[in-house]
Amino acid sequence: MPLNRREMLKLTASASAAAALGLRPGGGSTPALARLSELRTRPIPSSGEEIPVVGIGTARRYDVESTQEALTPLREVLAAFAVMGGRVVDTAPSYGRAEIVVGELVKAIGNRDDLFLATKVRTEGREAGIEQMEESFRRLHTDRIDLMQVHNLVDVDTQLATLREWKAAGRIRYLGITTSFDRQYEDFERVMREQEMDFIQVNYSLGDRGAGERILPLAADRGMAVLVNLPYARGRLFQTVGDRPLPEWAAEFDCESWGQFFLKFVLSEPAVTCAIPGTAKMTYLEDNVGAARGRLPGPELRERMIAFYDSL
Ligand SMILES: NC(=O)c1ccc[n+]([C@@H]2O[C@H](COP(=O)([O-])OP(=O)(O)OC[C@H]3O[C@@H](n4cnc5c(N)ncnc54)[C@H](OP(=O)(O)O)[C@@H]3O)[C@@H](O)[C@H]2O)c1
Repeated sequence: MPLNRREMLKLTASASAAAALGLRPGGGSTPALARLSELRTRPIPSSGEEIPVVGIGTARRYDVESTQEALTPLREVLAAFAVMGGRVVDTAPSYGRAEIVVGELVKAIGNRDDLFLATKVRTEGREAGIEQMEESFRRLHTDRIDLMQVHNLVDVDTQLATLREWKAAGRIRYLGITTSFDRQYEDFERVMREQEMDFIQVNYSLGDRGAGERILPLAADRGMAVLVNLPYARGRLFQTVGDRPLPEWAAEFDCESWGQFFLKFVLSEPAVTCAIPGTAKMTYLEDNVGAARGRLPGPELRERMIAFYDSL
């Protein structure tokens, strides 16, 4: 049952307080939080493991120096995210210092086991790939990475071969590939058809629906989980709607903000497993995680959302 506004505010206040206090979910001291933190989940087809449908992307905003001033708000976000029931955090060695920062913060908070850490490999050659991934283990302070993805298909067949070995050895739990470029879709589809993979990661949003034509149906056919990157088209969707009010019919799918409007569009596509909006502020975290609660638009409302957005 969707949470009402009072419960949401209570959760928000509790999560912020828990984050500030450094509390961890699952602890005996936060039973009310556990009750309020249920988020929509979807299964990873290759294992059946359920993951919450909203995660966090760390490109750009987590690429900061490790000063207390820069780290404190990010620490609060990552702590509260897990308290709220969130799990998926996506990073990459190519996001400047983001992977280092995620590793430092997760270690400091102590919530590694609550999170599903996804990172990437982006380099040419087997040895260079191994070296980069070993470095990711060190940076993330973990001996098990949940999802390792070949970033933008760079040397994809070589890197996937290593990922298979590492999955068999238990070093990574899942493997996959990513893109955010329409021009890579043809190659992306080829790899999806040729390789057995647990996950794909692709760009998809109300303003950028190309992946919905072939990639998402193919993922469903091939039994691959889908992480959606750029669900806000890097923020462009907010600029497009400007200061317009939400249409009244957004209430039909329990939507309280433009962020939830855009995320619920992505999540209402059944092939999508989890969207990973870039999230580095507490207010955005609460907003984004809120999209994992309540109803989602059905096919007719989706058409209405598209017509509305395209008319702007
Ligand atoms: N090829 C790949 O593998 C690939 C490519 C691109 C991205 N990614 C992954 O996907 C993640 C998401 O992409 P992204 O962060 O570039 O773009 P995005 O999620 O589409 O948009 C992020 C932007 O939306 C804003 N925002 C976030 N939540 C908001 C809210 N609730 N209300 C209003 N504004 C909000 C952020 O604002 P602020 O700037 O103010 O925080 C930021 O400017 C990345 O972080 C990365 O992990 C992967």
